[in-house]
Amino acid sequence: MDCAACGPCAAGGPPPEVSDEELQALYDCMIEMTEAMEAGEESQAILASWSESGREEGGAFRNWTNFASTPYISFTHGERFATNHANPIAAEVYGLYEDIDAMPVGGIVAKPTFSIGDDGQAYWETLFLMEKAEAGASPDTNDWIYTAIMPDGSLMGRTLGENSDGMYFCAACHMGSSDGTDDLLFMEEQYRVQN
Ligand code: HEC
Repeated sequence: MDCAACGPCAAGGPPPEVSDEELQALYDCMIEMTEAMEAGEESQAILASWSESGREEGGAFRNWTNFASTPYISFTHGERFATNHANPIAAEVYGLYEDIDAMPVGGIVAKPTFSIGDDGQAYWETLFLMEKAEAGASPDTNDWIYTAIMPDGSLMGRTLGENSDGMYFCAACHMGSSDGTDDLLFMEEQYRVQN
């Protein structure tokens, strides 16, 4: 593959001149490159090493259902481009959006984010995760476990784990903004895959 750092694969120029189609192509390219890298075919320093965090979701999310029709800017997650991937348990209900009652235990939603540099190249940023734990596991966060993994594979933190207190801001915003959707907030309608 000669789309080295996933700039030439798709977009030129920084947002907002990048079209949705270009963003999608860029995103697909980055996923391919990441897979190639993890298979030992490429080594690109700029590509994320979320898998190196030791958290299985760091790589597994790529096979989950992507509910974002195209990458979109998430202002609440660093103003980066984002998509939302649901594991098989979460995928059963995430697409109900505002009609969702509750996320079943074991449901995980992953939000990989990326930015486009002045050089027109794309860079993975933070991987955000929400996992629904058993009832009573984490009363302060409505039993959601929030995790953030930095591009180098280090953990920003995880509810009930490393830097748990420092991760409370995730729960605070999600709980405060949710209206009967089990703290899920969803992307704007125009970016949703509709089932
Ligand atoms: C200031 C508010 C705010 C903060 C802080 C915040 N989020 Fe979110 N989160 C949102 C909103 C709004 C959405 C839906 C829109 C979007 O994707 O940008 C969302 C969506 C998500 C999703 C996709 C599931 C869903 O709700 O639809 C995940 C996963 C997620 N956030 C994880 C995190 C993690 C982990 C943190 C902390 C590191 C965090 N968030 C901090 C507001 C926030």
